[in-house]
Amino acid sequence: MHIVQTVTEVRRIRRSLSGTWGLVPTMGYLHEGHLSLVRRARGENDFVAASIFVNPTQFGPNEDLAAYPRDLPRDLRLLAEAGVDLVWAPPTEEVYPPGFQTYVMVEEVTKPLEGAARPGHFRGVATIVAKLFNVFQPDRAYFGQKDAQQVVVIKQMARDLDFPLEIVVCPTVREPDGLAMSSRNAYLTPEQRAAAPVLYRALSAARAAWLAGEHDGERLRQIMAGVLAAESLARVEYVSAADPTTLAELGDASHGVLLSMAVRIGRARLIDNLLLP
Ligand code: PAJ
Repeated sequence: MHIVQTVTEVRRIRRSLSGTWGLVPTMGYLHEGHLSLVRRARGENDFVAASIFVNPTQFGPNEDLAAYPRDLPRDLRLLAEAGVDLVWAPPTEEVYPPGFQTYVMVEEVTKPLEGAARPGHFRGVATIVAKLFNVFQPDRAYFGQKDAQQVVVIKQMARDLDFPLEIVVCPTVREPDGLAMSSRNAYLTPEQRAAAPVLYRALSAARAAWLAGEHDGERLRQIMAGVLAAESLARVEYVSAADPTTLAELGDASHGVLLSMAVRIGRARLIDNLLLP
């Protein structure tokens, strides 16, 4: 496995190994969710690349950039075991050199949900992902359904800017009690960790109602809010029953719905979602 820091080295290795390439972008502190993307990429491409970069431009001024968990030696071991060919783990100045001033802004689909709660977040995500696509020029790039709006934003960007690659979306990997795996779960104390499956319980309750014929968006939001309200450690930021493509809140959810939420438990901000049907 090649481990490199500079764009020049990535390009040199990319060119020297001809065949199809799959790319798995990450911010490190890897868990089974990330590794499921790597395994999928391994199965579908001749070569697999991963990036490890805690991207400062996607964090707000009062967010957890400095505290974001990091363990590069462990990440590299896991990626090597998973059969990754190339890892880019650049220092910040390699990605954002002095004088950097070009950003990618995706418009409508970045306005609601995470975009409303985290101004500037998707400008940072779209910019780094566009750079990763340019640097690696992968045939396929792998993203998790865990970050549902991120997937919508990246697909929109790839379409609008003519990136010649396939975006592959992989299912959310969960702990046995339903909690979606996330690097940020490391922030939870044991008591908070015990409360955290409430997100999946709320989503599951709304899914059960939808499957039983409850297709009123407002009712689905109330069902999720009701389950979350019963957990005293959970502070709800939003609950949503939205159109899976436009991300606009739905009245009539009969044609399909993205159920999603952001909830603070202690100092962790947790997000989760289910896409129906
Ligand atoms: P990060 O949070 O490290 O996630 C990297 C990738 O792993 C994303 O595509 C994310 O959706 C996926 N992922 C995370 N948890 C998952 C889970 N439980 N199941 C399945 N997939 C999961 O998302 C980012 O980094 C960044 O925004 C990035 C795209 C790398 C740009 O900086």
